[in-house]
Amino acid sequence: MYRIDSKINTNEKEFLENKESFLKLLKEFKTIQAQVCKGGSEMAVKKHKQRGKLLARERIDLLIDEGTSFLELSSLAAYEQNNNEFPSAGIVTGIGIVHGRETVIIANDATVKGGTYMKETIKKHIRAQEIALENNLPCVYMVDSGGAFLPEQATVFPDKFHFGRFFFNQAQLSANGIPQIAIVMGSCTAGGAYVPAMSDETIIVRNQGTIFIGGPPLVKAATGEEVSAEELGGAEVHTSISGVADHIAENDQHALMICRNIFKTLKKPEKQCLDVKEIEEPFFDPNELYGLAPVNLKKPVQMRQIIARIVDASKMHEFKAEYAPTIITGFAHIYGFPVGIIANNGVIFSETALKATHFIELCAQRKIPIVFLQNITGFIVGKEYEHKGIARDGAKMVHAVATANVPKFTVVVGGSFGAGNYAMAGRAYEPRLLFMWPNAKISVMGGEQAANVLLTVKKEQLHAQAKKLSSAQEEALRKEILDKYNQEGSAYYSTSRLWDDGIIDPIHTRKYLALGISMSLNKKFPEPKFGVFRM
Ligand code: COA
Repeated sequence: MYRIDSKINTNEKEFLENKESFLKLLKEFKTIQAQVCKGGSEMAVKKHKQRGKLLARERIDLLIDEGTSFLELSSLAAYEQNNNEFPSAGIVTGIGIVHGRETVIIANDATVKGGTYMKETIKKHIRAQEIALENNLPCVYMVDSGGAFLPEQATVFPDKFHFGRFFFNQAQLSANGIPQIAIVMGSCTAGGAYVPAMSDETIIVRNQGTIFIGGPPLVKAATGEEVSAEELGGAEVHTSISGVADHIAENDQHALMICRNIFKTLKKPEKQCLDVKEIEEPFFDPNELYGLAPVNLKKPVQMRQIIARIVDASKMHEFKAEYAPTIITGFAHIYGFPVGIIANNGVIFSETALKATHFIELCAQRKIPIVFLQNITGFIVGKEYEHKGIARDGAKMVHAVATANVPKFTVVVGGSFGAGNYAMAGRAYEPRLLFMWPNAKISVMGGEQAANVLLTVKKEQLHAQAKKLSSAQEEALRKEILDKYNQEGSAYYSTSRLWDDGIIDPIHTRKYLALGISMSLNKKFPEPKFGVFRM
């Protein structure tokens, strides 16, 4: 393995300008994230604390092993939707280490609309369960929720991937031997009552947790019976009368301790073995990523230099270095874990797709996780390339990405446009984790290209009717499309809708990838199995 050559001049004007623009973006991201992580309104937080309850993120900190960090996912979910009334979509999800075991944690934030579920809350909960299933990780549910956000019932209740899916998933996860543990730390109403009831083991906090299918107001309306919440479904009822919960806790801290004790009894997973080396920091400073990250997508990107600031010792064993240079493929290490890197270095031609396909086969054969670094405008277009079968060769790459039986991880470091998104393990290709840098952009094509395509179509339509657009009309239409693409293509728009698992600071890319690879080892990688490649 050779150290990647780097002749970056960090005092050069271009580098410094890029760094300055990037740091502005990063500051904006960090400000938004800090605000969102405060949870609900000050009043709601105060009320929550007065009840003797810990905040969702405080609960998580107490559950995970001391000295370890929590990999929080999609903290900006629901950002700039519903008048920003659902910070983090009212739920905190992520991966933490509990008794040495990577664990999916799903914690309602009761300071946000009573911890109720709107559509992104549902998506986040289900995405976390999907991660648990793919990687064989136990789940801890910290329940403190009023159930469905009733004004939006049509977007959270009936569909396949709505509220009902939580319980389907719990049954499937449990059937796969993946432990399901619930801690009832507040309200747990209606459908929500099934979270603890469907769990393998359930803890409930005295005078704080409640579980019922219908709360006191509903019972009164339905039957006329008057009953307090505690009498109807409090901790004592469920641990000594109904049997819906298994352990009673005196407070949040005690409940978390009982949960940690449960982890001592769990069966250890059979791990996938990788040839792990000693960790080496990159030789070139990851802080230099700020000067290299593609802020202006029109400028060429030095992708090899980006790789050099992500991988151990900045070393890579490059594969087909001289061939099809618009994609970089090579073996490297991240925090000692072996990885196959696939990074865009221009548009995808036929030979680019074939090189990547060959490399994916190598990774699948050798059982090495693949890291995709996306900065892709798409596949090459034009008569010459269609005739040579770009669709046929592109399909091979898409096949290989879809069926590669090793964990895939995707980081969108720049643009992610068109079918390039698919070929480079976009969300639909089930990478175990997908992150965006704050400068990243994602859409079916760039705004300018979309504006040109739509204007051409419009002009042809009008031409057929012997009409034409005035230049003012043309400009107005162009602007409308550009504005729409700019807004919908931003990393914030994506992360708000869970098209990714979160926006990250580039210098933490290696850490996030390493945590992801480590969690993926909880499930053995299957043998390689590919379908029919169009030759
Ligand atoms: N749908 C929509 N909004 C809800 C809600 C629900 N199911 N449950 C609570 N909220 C909202 C409240 O309107 C309030 O909104 P606001 O901050 O804009 O005023 C906020 O959540 C907090 O509710 P509040 O009752 O003040 O908080 P609390 O901590 O005292 O109680 C609950 C929280 C969840 C225990 C209580 O609100 C409740 O019982 N909700 C109804 C639960 C229910 O019956 N769900 C059925 C779902 S199928």
